[in-house]
Amino acid sequence: MNTVLKVDNLTKIYSAPEGKQIKALDDISFEVPQGMIFGLLGPNGAGKTTTIKSICGLVQPDAGSISVMGWDVRRQRAKAMAQLAAVLEGNRNIYWRLTPRENLEFFAAIRGRKPGSLRKEISELLQVFGLEEKAKQPVRKLSRGMQQKLALAVTLVTGAPILLLDEPTLGLDVSASYEIRGILRRIVQEEQRTVIITTHDMNVVQDICQQVVIINDGRIVANDSIQHLMDLFQVRSYDLSVGQLTTEQRQHLEQLPYLQLVPVNSSWQISLDLENPASLWQALDILRQEQTPIESVNRKELNFEKVFMEILGGGQA
Ligand SMILES: Nc1ncnc2c1ncn2[C@@H]1O[C@H](COP(=O)(O)OP(=O)(O)OP(=O)(O)O)[C@@H](O)[C@H]1O
Ligand SMILES: [Mg+2]
Repeated sequence: MNTVLKVDNLTKIYSAPEGKQIKALDDISFEVPQGMIFGLLGPNGAGKTTTIKSICGLVQPDAGSISVMGWDVRRQRAKAMAQLAAVLEGNRNIYWRLTPRENLEFFAAIRGRKPGSLRKEISELLQVFGLEEKAKQPVRKLSRGMQQKLALAVTLVTGAPILLLDEPTLGLDVSASYEIRGILRRIVQEEQRTVIITTHDMNVVQDICQQVVIINDGRIVANDSIQHLMDLFQVRSYDLSVGQLTTEQRQHLEQLPYLQLVPVNSSWQISLDLENPASLWQALDILRQEQTPIESVNRKELNFEKVFMEILGGGQA
């Protein structure tokens, strides 16, 4: 498998007021293989944007090195940058006075793309991102979500093999978020491009990322495939739908850890997260005392959000 990005022992210290220093990145190293969606995750202030900006050459690290498809970001900057397109926090990579179509034409041109096939490709991008209607309006008149979508379309039209996307689905409506996930999956599968994405939306991560690095306080706390992390943290969760409960039963059930009781019409839903499978028997014993009918039992899929919380602080975060 080809490595397209290599981050080696990266450290970044920012100066803060009163002579204080903030170690935003503390000796982090990771590699990104070609042709996947790679998640860069972590809580607010973890160092994700600092990492992305270091890769783009916008932040000068204090130690360590980065290479993009073999080109060193510091020493061979132009070659390294030619491989990248980025959406940074706050979608600043588009021109507000230009229309969406002009933005796409402009950014394709400065990357040296030939106009021939571009007209069709640009029309397709405008259509896919739902921007056809606004194709002739200056970008400043578009809604924030539309601007966000255009910023992403601009990274696609550059033809760059590596896309760096800092929270690309932030503030997008549900259907736009799904559309963008589909587009990212497609460019990775069909064009073997590589996407490095930061997001706080663990549904997005679970849905499209194959591998993740999790940063906390400037240090890497996990570097693994989603599947392996899910297997490691296999938490069994069940949803039980049951009939009427006596007050006593409710009190007993509510005392069990990892259990949630929610009234649904004339019956109850019991959600169980079982770190210890024996708790299921305790819950069932309480139901058996009154011969409470159990209408359904479903095993819930483990979600990555829980795994993420576990990694960051034993589920306490
Ligand atoms: N220009 C700067 N000057 C001083 N400190 C900074 C600067 N930029 C970032 N920091 C600090 O570096 C740390 C990491 O910030 P960074 O923006 O990389 O976090 P993040 O993981 O992107 O967080 P978020 O999820 O909130 O976007 C934080 O403590 C932040 O306050
Ligand atoms: Mg950030």
